[in-house]
Amino acid sequence: MNYSNARTTKEKYLIIGNWKNQVSSGADARKIFQGVSKCAISLRHVETVICPPMMYVAELGNMVTSRNCVIGTQGTPTLSQTVRTGSISPEMIFRSRARYVIIGHSEERAHGVTNDEITAALSLIVQHPLSPVLCIGEIKRDTGHKYYRLISEQIMAAVGHLSHADLARVVIAYEPVWAIGANAQPCSPDECAIMVRFIRKTILDMTDNEHLAMNIKILYGGSVDADNAKNYLTTGEANGLLVGRASLHATTFNKILKIADTL
Ligand code: PGA
Repeated sequence: MNYSNARTTKEKYLIIGNWKNQVSSGADARKIFQGVSKCAISLRHVETVICPPMMYVAELGNMVTSRNCVIGTQGTPTLSQTVRTGSISPEMIFRSRARYVIIGHSEERAHGVTNDEITAALSLIVQHPLSPVLCIGEIKRDTGHKYYRLISEQIMAAVGHLSHADLARVVIAYEPVWAIGANAQPCSPDECAIMVRFIRKTILDMTDNEHLAMNIKILYGGSVDADNAKNYLTTGEANGLLVGRASLHATTFNKILKIADTL
């Protein structure tokens, strides 16, 4: 089977800005969101998602004017359906008008968030009209290619228990940790394409559902900027991008959005 999924003109690229904890005031958050939204709502081939720190989600949710530019949240361990200090529920996320939830980010995993916690968060999220953005990725590459097994284990642990209908709502973001950060070694678009195909094959092996495997959205998320975005979306075969630092300024992020819109 050929795991390369040629994009049809109907499909929009999904471009997600992950602000992490990098925007330090509500005024700044509003300003960046306004700047991005103005550009994003006019694009025909891109759906834009901004994932601000939880503090600003409700405020920015009130500023959403189009399905073309929506809000998401970040974080796994803060999610709970039962009474728990320091926690929020998926329902609150939905009512704040967020539509996506980033979970299993490598920075969370590095701070001890486990596959079990990620699985539990995913199960909660899919009970609501929210799309989980499941981050997976290896810390380094070994010459024996054992990282492939790690990737398939991360996928199976997180989504292996979901029904096909729930799995179809999951977005997978591949973030090679070795390619993230200012001084990291870049992941080439070809390496990205190989991993996108491997993720599709893993989903197919797990579900025996070809339609699902070929249509699940797979994003690339490792130090994306306006110079490399196009290649990850074309040669890299990604259905979209998870952007960190380059999403913190509206002008820089808008450049990426406009590039994607022209492809
Ligand atoms: P970056 O972050 O784009 O700043 O490298 C990506 C990520 O951590 O998801």
